[in-house]
Amino acid sequence: MRPTERAGTDARAAVVCGLGAWLPPTVVTNDDLARRLDTSDEWIRTRTGIRARHVASPGMPTSHLAAEAGARALESAGVHDVDMVVLATTTPDRPCPATAPVVATRLGLTGRPAFDVSAVCTGFLYALATGAGMITSGAVETVLVVGSEVYSTILDPADRSSSVIFGDGAGAVVLRAGHRSEDGAVGRSELGSDGSLADLITVRAGGSEQRSSGAPALPADRYFSMWGKEVFAHAVTRMAEATRAALAGAGWHAADLDRLIGHQANVRILHALGEYLDIPRERLVIHLDQIGNTAAASIPLALAYAQSTGELAPGARVALTAFGGGATWGATTLTWPALKTV
Ligand code: UT7
Repeated sequence: MRPTERAGTDARAAVVCGLGAWLPPTVVTNDDLARRLDTSDEWIRTRTGIRARHVASPGMPTSHLAAEAGARALESAGVHDVDMVVLATTTPDRPCPATAPVVATRLGLTGRPAFDVSAVCTGFLYALATGAGMITSGAVETVLVVGSEVYSTILDPADRSSSVIFGDGAGAVVLRAGHRSEDGAVGRSELGSDGSLADLITVRAGGSEQRSSGAPALPADRYFSMWGKEVFAHAVTRMAEATRAALAGAGWHAADLDRLIGHQANVRILHALGEYLDIPRERLVIHLDQIGNTAAASIPLALAYAQSTGELAPGARVALTAFGGGATWGATTLTWPALKTV
């Protein structure tokens, strides 16, 4: 019997078997930012929970960070090869072609299918669902799923509202074919989008919309912009709804969860999400204080952090959820597997 034909809890599933992360060495503190912007450590800490972020050096594009994290994930899984590479990013090396083939080649995986997924801060969950779906369909046996961002390249250095929030980094997992009953099996993904909210988080220029207008791009339109207050409200409600749906799909209640890993955008968002779902604060993974909002890299970086601190122990029941530009949102569940820390 083929694995896909197995019934019940032993149905074919994608199982997390490796985890890696990489942060560029340069750290920028709130005080560093306050020296060049009209802001303060106190404002940033109390409004966001962020104390510092890592920033890529010049000449260090998204593919560089992605390959570093991907290599660590492969090492954690104890493999040199995978059947496919999926990269979630908002900051591809170039508008064309995709960055994933560059990452695959850097990892010695030339010839493997490799493509980008663009769902901003929800990107990793979209990429994870894509990789898991390719495995459960039987199309492939193993997938490297990476989230990598160099937001520092799209932030307006003079804009205090966005410059203080985002950081650079990358995280990755390796998925292998297994069974639903195993620790590490990725649960059903609850994904959604609402394109009427596209203006809330955007880089207006550089795409066909602006180029087809015939008008040159305004300098500000080349940079990232966000309507923070509106995003905050949507983020809490959408992540709460998606998490509830993912928990229901797993047959779990919020009280069953050992850890909720929400997109690391703002500690106040994570606290509000916990209150909505009735999950106590000690079960929320908080990593953003050290690295800021790393968009598509935020979930795998939080996983690696929680694994390194022992917050994620084998057998822990975990929910992942994110909200981002698009608007997009998503959630999924898994029981944490025993993984080699790299
Ligand atoms: O990654 C995708 C998901 N992203 C998010 O989920 C982000 C969601 N939004 C947020 O986290 C928050 O809305 C922000 C952190 C972005 C902003 O916090 P806020 O409490 O919503 O502040 P605000 O935008 O309403 O600004 C309050 C005040 C304004 O001054 P006035 O108009 O009241 O005089 C801003 O100009 O704070 C000012 N301000 C700053 N002051 C010092 C904005 N940025 C800064 C700053 N330093 N860096």
